[in-house]
Amino acid sequence: MPVDAEGFKRVAASWATGVTIVTSRSGDRQQGMTVSAFSEVSLDPPLFLVCADKSSITNELIAESGVFSVSILARGQEDLSNRFASKREEHRRFEGLDCTDGATGCPRVPGALAWIDCSVTRAVDAGDHVIYLARAEEAAAVDGEPLLYFRQAYGGLS
Ligand SMILES: Cc1cc2nc3c(=O)[nH]c(=O)nc-3n(C[C@H](O)[C@H](O)[C@H](O)COP(=O)(O)O)c2cc1C
Repeated sequence: MPVDAEGFKRVAASWATGVTIVTSRSGDRQQGMTVSAFSEVSLDPPLFLVCADKSSITNELIAESGVFSVSILARGQEDLSNRFASKREEHRRFEGLDCTDGATGCPRVPGALAWIDCSVTRAVDAGDHVIYLARAEEAAAVDGEPLLYFRQAYGGLS
């Protein structure tokens, strides 16, 4: 069966994922967006990847600065996921959030299950997205359960 846009989206949505917020900072500009296209890649050296839509503001900042931070969301953080995905008031996403800055200077989202501060080692042009392969400069995880995403709906482990 040929893969049209609707078929692509339906198949891609059948892959259950966690949910992250990827943030970046360039000069005095910061932005962050909800990202499910995230993966571990290598233990030695420690590499991860994220795929960013070329049209996103966050992509623009990552391309400029070469750094980003990934916050892996915990169960119950759907509102944050929706806030960082919505195009409405996208410049107010960080309002009221007590973020901390990691080694790269990019904001980490409070209440996350884990976070990783990354420096881009390679940017691969991939259609309407860019694949950022990046080295983990700092990372940590706390106890808790993940926020999951499957076919446009949030869920948990049980
Ligand atoms: C659950 C979920 C997962 C998403 N995953 C990605 C992703 O992997 N890559 C991406 O570029 N956008 C992804 N998006 C869409 C962006 O979060 C959205 O386009 C955002 O508004 C971009 O923000 P910006 O242009 O301000 O940077 C996802 C959205 C949702 C709700």
